[in-house]
Amino acid sequence: MTELADAVEADAVPAYLPSAVLDGAAREDAIAMMRRLIAHTRNKTTDQAESTFEEPVDNYLDEELFAAEIELIFKRIPLPLALSCELPTKNSYKAIEVVGVPVVMTRDSKGVVHAMLNVCRHRGSLICKEGTGTSRALTCPYHAWSYGMDGSLNGIYGEHTFGEFDKSSRGLITLPVVEKAGLIFVCLTPGLVIDIDSWLGDFTPVLESLKLDECHLFSSRMMPGPNWKVAIEGYLEGYHFASLHKDTVFKTNLSNTAIFDSFGAHERVSFALREIENHLDDPEETWDPTANVGVINWIFPGFSIAGGWRQRMAIGFPLPGTSVTESMTEQRILVRTPIPDDEQEIHELEVMRDWFYDVTYGEDYITGFGVQKGVSVTGGKTQIFGRNEPGVQYVHRTINRLMTEHHREGLPLPRVIER
Ligand code: FES
Ligand SMILES: [Fe+2]
Repeated sequence: MTELADAVEADAVPAYLPSAVLDGAAREDAIAMMRRLIAHTRNKTTDQAESTFEEPVDNYLDEELFAAEIELIFKRIPLPLALSCELPTKNSYKAIEVVGVPVVMTRDSKGVVHAMLNVCRHRGSLICKEGTGTSRALTCPYHAWSYGMDGSLNGIYGEHTFGEFDKSSRGLITLPVVEKAGLIFVCLTPGLVIDIDSWLGDFTPVLESLKLDECHLFSSRMMPGPNWKVAIEGYLEGYHFASLHKDTVFKTNLSNTAIFDSFGAHERVSFALREIENHLDDPEETWDPTANVGVINWIFPGFSIAGGWRQRMAIGFPLPGTSVTESMTEQRILVRTPIPDDEQEIHELEVMRDWFYDVTYGEDYITGFGVQKGVSVTGGKTQIFGRNEPGVQYVHRTINRLMTEHHREGLPLPRVIER
């Protein structure tokens, strides 16, 4: 147990507040999920993949493969780089760096969302510091060129001295962007087209049922982690709850009792909460899935929404770092009601924020750094994912599929164990 995990107060486990938003088809879906989890709880079973799956450890170590993953996955697919509530008003922005690409997203004076490279077209300075804010213009700190919130170049300091050029061709470089289901999806390659409906497919109604567009951001915190694939594996199975999280997650969740659903590239892994043991014989119409089913909705490659339909949610978004052994995760706490000014409520939210951070960093990622060390000395061997870890298997199958579909000559492919 790590120092950080020791510091997690056992009584600080976040309360599962019932949600107000679960209705209609979303409630039916949730009831069906609870039915499956009740059967597993009774039978001491869990959803299973068809077979075990082996992943070569070299896929977590190979610098060239890591660079290819960034090119073929992270720069090709729509990434949910912001929540709509992070650009809550007209003239708001969020600036971040994603796999080495500085990006600024804005909501302009008409409420329309834009995404651009956060790079000045004069001499390449970064324009906005990372973070969120409001402004009527994006002004470069180097020589004060000023851009509209749609990226157009509007103002040049000392323009009469600068000389002639085509201002209309020197706007910020725009990136494809779509706002959908309370999320802002950006593609890091200019000129690619985002077809969000086919990318999300039948995951769209699942995401829309979460009503993220009505949520408010309470907090955002960055945490370093191991290789991005090691980091994401920890989100997608509940096989480790009884051991790694015995004093935290395991207090509210059953271990190794989960259901798995896939939606195109995306997936949903849902865990039985301990409360479910009190309702095994209750009639379905009395069930409250929000108190009995712990859901991770997962937008590929790594946007994790934990807490699903509840009043408070934790969002984790692990992204590759600057080398194959590093990732960086933004962890956010979302609430359905406007941020309270009541001290007690704020305190509860702070406890929840710190609890999620300490569990994810202190337990999952500290273990992940150990995994990274482990794979570095077992080159040529494989990891094995059990039939009871279908979510982890699925994300690796999806990575392999997209790497193959997007493959370009000269770039490596993941090593795959044929069965
Ligand atoms: S680099 Fe931005 S104004 Fe000169
Ligand atoms: Fe975990």
